[in-house]
Amino acid sequence: MATALIILGAGMGTRMNSDLPKVLHQIAGAPMLVHAMKSGAALEPARTVIVAGHGADLVEKAARAFDPDVTMALQSEQLGTAHAVAQAKDALVDFEGDALVLYGDTPFIRPETLAAMTAARLTHDIVVLGFEAADPGRYGRLILKDDQLDRIVEFKDSSDEERSLSLCNSGVIAAESSTLFSLIDAVDNDNTAGEYYLTDIIGIARARGLTATVVRCDETETLGINSRAELASAEALFQAKARQASQEDGVNLTAPETVFFAHDTVIGRDTVVEPNVVFGPNVTIESGTIIRAFSHLEGCHVSKGAVVGPYARLRPGAELAENVKVGNFVEIKNAQVAAGAKVNHLSYIGDATIGARSNIGAGTITCNYDGVFKHHTTIGEDAFIGSNTMLVAPVTVGNAAMTGSGSVVTRNVPAGDLAVARAKQENKTGFAVRLFEKLRARKQKGS
Ligand code: UD1
Ligand code: CA
Repeated sequence: MATALIILGAGMGTRMNSDLPKVLHQIAGAPMLVHAMKSGAALEPARTVIVAGHGADLVEKAARAFDPDVTMALQSEQLGTAHAVAQAKDALVDFEGDALVLYGDTPFIRPETLAAMTAARLTHDIVVLGFEAADPGRYGRLILKDDQLDRIVEFKDSSDEERSLSLCNSGVIAAESSTLFSLIDAVDNDNTAGEYYLTDIIGIARARGLTATVVRCDETETLGINSRAELASAEALFQAKARQASQEDGVNLTAPETVFFAHDTVIGRDTVVEPNVVFGPNVTIESGTIIRAFSHLEGCHVSKGAVVGPYARLRPGAELAENVKVGNFVEIKNAQVAAGAKVNHLSYIGDATIGARSNIGAGTITCNYDGVFKHHTTIGEDAFIGSNTMLVAPVTVGNAAMTGSGSVVTRNVPAGDLAVARAKQENKTGFAVRLFEKLRARKQKGS
């Protein structure tokens, strides 16, 4: 059966104390909303509707960056979770299939859990995702009766007896789409909060003779983020899982607790990641590489056998081919470095192509920016760039060409040539001795 996702993200998130809408706060380099969308994507949804309110334009931008085909629904006043889902009705009038409600501030639901909900839908009209809470706090409580989920009671409206129950509502609900909206039409706001509660649809459905059940998951999956402290705990939880998963994938983390992954980091087996390495979004690393201590990588690809760092920075568009070496205090941005090339010390390589086996000397800089435009530097194969060469782009250095140390290269260097672009050296015989004598004498006179 086709599935439509409805992801709620209109709330302001008062407790975040932020100008940014709550669902755009990031975990592992991606907004919480994107984590929720990624979970839901496992069901291969035919449609995804995002309900936004506070900062709707920013929420839309983030959602479309992950999936350009999402439908946005605006909830201009936040009157409760049922009211939020109701805003998705127009987008789904012609939709036949199941609707699954997810919260944009609940980032860790596993695909397997959603699959279990889909399976439970085969036997029940409504499926709610619940969990046994160690500290049930202010969560809504799931009330069971005769093997059915009978109703959900919100904390604010619950009795002491109900509060003593530990089976809680995660907020994730699945039902046939038109059934869901018909139930939501019947929800009122006659409760302590004066809100339209999505949770009320269970009682209404049972009164209509529909069936309802609970699929249970681990509490860590349904973690909802409401404050900065909870965001930091969620980040820690993500990192702990990512480190473990990476080790299981055969990656050697020498000090796992000091390595930070992004939501989409991919690292091949037998790669060594030394302490204090940070991966930003969109990094893929092939097997058998070494990422040395204190390196920072984002938006880059590192091929087999490459060695990066210590203290290297790979920025978006850095493409390292097999057996490339990038050493300490080297920054590489939007540049392809071909197999076996070396950039070992103190260099900036931006908007460049470096041919196979070329050696880039210490302190080399591709001067790619003229203050307005960015320009490209092309270096051929087997070239040797002398230390402290300034390559003023656009410029090309041919195959097997050389540049003299300290050169400022502004014109193309043909293949096989040596370019020397610096002042010629002159030695003045005995000059240093005479100068020192003069200076020391001046010091003695106290002037
Ligand atoms: C909700 C559930 C509660 C459950 C808990 C799990 C209801 C009435 N209560 O409570 O049973 O245990 O989640 O975390 O559903 N939102 C909107 N528009 C609104 C209101 C909320 O889009 O008008 C969105 C929020 O942005 C958020 C989500 O819905 O992503 C949950 O809202 P929140 O106010 O945090 O619900 P809780 O009070 O935590
Ligand atoms: Ca919440």
